[in-house]
Amino acid sequence: MRQAIIPGSFDPVTYGHLDIIERAARIFDRVWAVVFHNPEKNGGLFTIAERLELLAEATKHIPNVCIDASDGLLVTYARERGIGVVVKGLRAFSDFEYEFKMALMNKRLDEQIETLFMMTATEYSYVSSSVLKEVCQYGGSVHGLVPPLVEERLYAKLKHR
Ligand code: PNS
Repeated sequence: MRQAIIPGSFDPVTYGHLDIIERAARIFDRVWAVVFHNPEKNGGLFTIAERLELLAEATKHIPNVCIDASDGLLVTYARERGIGVVVKGLRAFSDFEYEFKMALMNKRLDEQIETLFMMTATEYSYVSSSVLKEVCQYGGSVHGLVPPLVEERLYAKLKHR
């Protein structure tokens, strides 16, 4: 079975993430969308349980997607489950340096695990969870950039801030 993992903070899942998950699910037999801890992003808006709930709802139409969370190393998680490929979305040139560093470090940690990059769909190339949270916080609309339940939860979380 060809398996891939799509790791991320998913705080919260956006249509940009979903585009990558859907496309990977057409290529691989099973795709794992896994919430990991990113030490560069402290705290976060949604709890891990909330992120998982939103991811599960957003991907429920894709039968070969599994949702999970881990507070360990990405390569350890992948190795333990026989997952050989990490799929990451690249939005803009500015993503490249950060992703390149992570891919090389992951390769050093486990040379059996490959990282593949997919270019994000043009319509979501400027979408990030961070920018969406900022827009919501100041009363802007994120309609059409996140699944409906995520939109609802973002407004509910941020409207009193
Ligand atoms: O959505 P993000 O925040 O850009 O995703 C980054 C993430 C969570 C994939 C990255 O921080 C990660 O892989 N964390 C797991 C811990 C790990 O393996 N760190 C070493 C990366 S070289």
